[in-house]
Amino acid sequence: VVLLAIFAGLAFGNLIDDIRSRGVLRVGQDAGYMPLYGTDIDGNRIGLEVELLQRMADILGVELEFVVVNWDGIIPALMAGKFDIIWSGMTITPQRALRVNFSIPYLTVGQVIVYNTREFPQEPSYANIADQDLRIAVQLGTTGDEAARRLFPNANILTFDSMDEAAFQVASGRADIMVIDSIYARYVAKKYDVLSAGTEFLTREDLGVAVRRGDLEALHWINTYIRWLQTSGIVDELQQKWFVD
Ligand code: ARG
Repeated sequence: VVLLAIFAGLAFGNLIDDIRSRGVLRVGQDAGYMPLYGTDIDGNRIGLEVELLQRMADILGVELEFVVVNWDGIIPALMAGKFDIIWSGMTITPQRALRVNFSIPYLTVGQVIVYNTREFPQEPSYANIADQDLRIAVQLGTTGDEAARRLFPNANILTFDSMDEAAFQVASGRADIMVIDSIYARYVAKKYDVLSAGTEFLTREDLGVAVRRGDLEALHWINTYIRWLQTSGIVDELQQKWFVD
């Protein structure tokens, strides 16, 4: 069995070689996390991460393909081989790292609140939120979901499959606040007049690319790619282009 496994490893090569011989890089994402990725009116994927991925596909000389799944099931889908990597605004956590391998970080974010200014003319303090039993909208299975349960144990946590659904609950008054990554919070506060993004950070988090356990050669290449994106100024340039404020 061991010999067979070694032989299979040699015969099929590593993930990067597989992607190149297949001619397609398959990336797992959920519906949307603007400005990192989303879909424009023509159905094209757009956003900062989409541009990083297109550049990656160009260097590898392959086509880029997105496989869209629910956030809640994205790690199981990677493990089942539905796509090659997760590049989808995923926070590096030790719990997730038991199931997947993470790259070095390519961006840093934090959890913040998004609130409705008709309900809160002033940004509510965290002590204030913790004291009341508010309705808090989160995306299921996110670090925002976790942070909200941990920091606001009295709250009524409402879970949604996508960030956009959760944000809509607050905009329409069905939830009081949302807990979400700061990058998205600033974007959605710009999108809806009635929404504002909190300025106080609940957490600090690194975003990384995830591959299946064992895909270490591919991970090594991805780390090289990320470091190059940073030293060459491409990440800064794309933040200028895509980030709000
Ligand atoms: N960064 C947070 C997490 O890892 C939120 C990610 C949500 N990402 C998304 N693609 N919807 O849990």
